[in-house]
Amino acid sequence: MVKSVIRVDKIIFTSYITLMKILLSVKPDKFSFKNPLVLAMFEGEVNTSNFDLVADFLKLNPSFGKFADTQWLCIKGQNILLVGAGKKDKFDYAKLQNWAGIGVRFFLEKADEIEILVPPSELETHTITEAVSLGVEIAGHDIQVYKTEKKPVKLKSIQLLVEKNDRGFSEGLKKGLVLAEYINLARRLGDMPSNEMTPSYFLSVAKKVAKEQKLKITIIDKLKAKRLGMGGFAAIAQGSVQPSFLIALEYKGDVKSKDKWGIVGKGVTFDSGGISIKPSSGMHEMKYDMSGAGAVLAAMGVIAKLKPKVNAVGIMAVTENMPGSSAVKPGDIIKTYSGKTAEILNTDAEGRVILADAISFAQKDFKANILVDVATLTGAMIISLGDDIAGVFSNNPVLADQIIRLGKAVGEKFWQMPMDEEYDELIKSDFADFTNTGHGSSMPGAAGSITGAKFIERVIEKNHAWVHVDIAGTAWDMKPKAFRSVGATGFAVKTLVELLTSNK
Ligand code: BES
Ligand code: ZN
Ligand code: ZN
Repeated sequence: MVKSVIRVDKIIFTSYITLMKILLSVKPDKFSFKNPLVLAMFEGEVNTSNFDLVADFLKLNPSFGKFADTQWLCIKGQNILLVGAGKKDKFDYAKLQNWAGIGVRFFLEKADEIEILVPPSELETHTITEAVSLGVEIAGHDIQVYKTEKKPVKLKSIQLLVEKNDRGFSEGLKKGLVLAEYINLARRLGDMPSNEMTPSYFLSVAKKVAKEQKLKITIIDKLKAKRLGMGGFAAIAQGSVQPSFLIALEYKGDVKSKDKWGIVGKGVTFDSGGISIKPSSGMHEMKYDMSGAGAVLAAMGVIAKLKPKVNAVGIMAVTENMPGSSAVKPGDIIKTYSGKTAEILNTDAEGRVILADAISFAQKDFKANILVDVATLTGAMIISLGDDIAGVFSNNPVLADQIIRLGKAVGEKFWQMPMDEEYDELIKSDFADFTNTGHGSSMPGAAGSITGAKFIERVIEKNHAWVHVDIAGTAWDMKPKAFRSVGATGFAVKTLVELLTSNK
């Protein structure tokens, strides 16, 4: 039987990490089992398998099929990895992505090539291959860069077998690969140690993306930031011996529209807390405090490739937060780029301070009127929502709903937090316009994440829509998953891309 092959000619571009080669074809009538075949098994489904090996196994294991159950059946000339897909009515984008990832991670060190029989689902054809290819590439991301003794990764090629010859499948695959390339870039930057992933290194990557994708780049260094009146960014940057940068990447896809998105990311390449120094246990994880900027860089890279009809500027505020004789001190008063003054009560609440200036930069210098900032802003976010759901804070219910809805469709979860005016009390200052941390409530740190959002809200200009996304809990994950290595997750890239591509 001749396989009809829908080949996607240019498989992948990346100069950063080696990724899997993915081929797409219509499923054959008969399988050769030259390579292992990954097969989905839904929970509680009557077995309708044509494979006698699978039928025999299910007779003895009728409860098999819970999400992430795995069983390798490799006898009688057949070679099948059964991967549980969970309940059929719960099988959405995220489940499909992770299901494919489980198959890939299972064979990473075991096979050169595998085939994946893409399971049927309610999703559209392009969404199916987008999710599967993303799952494959996320699973293939290798974190062994710094190990001198690496586990050998064998898997190089993956054949996706789909139901029918449909252009949607190849289009989805192409988009999935673009997303994966940049999500894995954001993950690699997040996982890199801060001695290598300095603000200068981040800038070099942003320059590379700008050059490759023809995005206009504007760079403001520490000195210039101070001269321009960006007192917030300059105050945090002044404690570090490393050069610091505000980086802007511009994308123009709709000359007729006056609307411009400002996508702003917190890029603290290491957050020691500054003079209000953090406890040492767990401090190493503060290399991930640039994940917001990583997500913005990745989203701008994807946008430049997908070319939606939209205008956007991506701003990344990139600096270390360090203690030292030149560092900003508790009690210091700074003047932000918005013109408003802030009393620094705690130098560890640095994210909001640099973001305020980065957002003003987007509004004043790039005329952005729809603002989205993404930041690992508060530990309190993890206390409120845990590791899998990000907090959304907004002055605009329509924009907030849009983020939550679009995120849900691509497997990124958000929950909206309150922004009632009562919370404004918490950042009242006797000496400046407001303080950078909450105080005066019945418990220290009360409503910590909202306080951070309230600070940022003060620089949002009239009639501008704004959403702040706190990814403190979701940006990295030190619990190993069957579909993903530990470390940076690339959270928010997919939703930012959806936001910029679904508007017009
Ligand atoms: N980068 C941290 C927030 C953070 C902590 C993210 C743990 C992920 C995990 C941020 O700059 C910070 O230190 N925030 C302080 C604010 C406090 C001083 C008001 C915090 O959360 O403790
Ligand atoms: Zn901090
Ligand atoms: Zn921080």
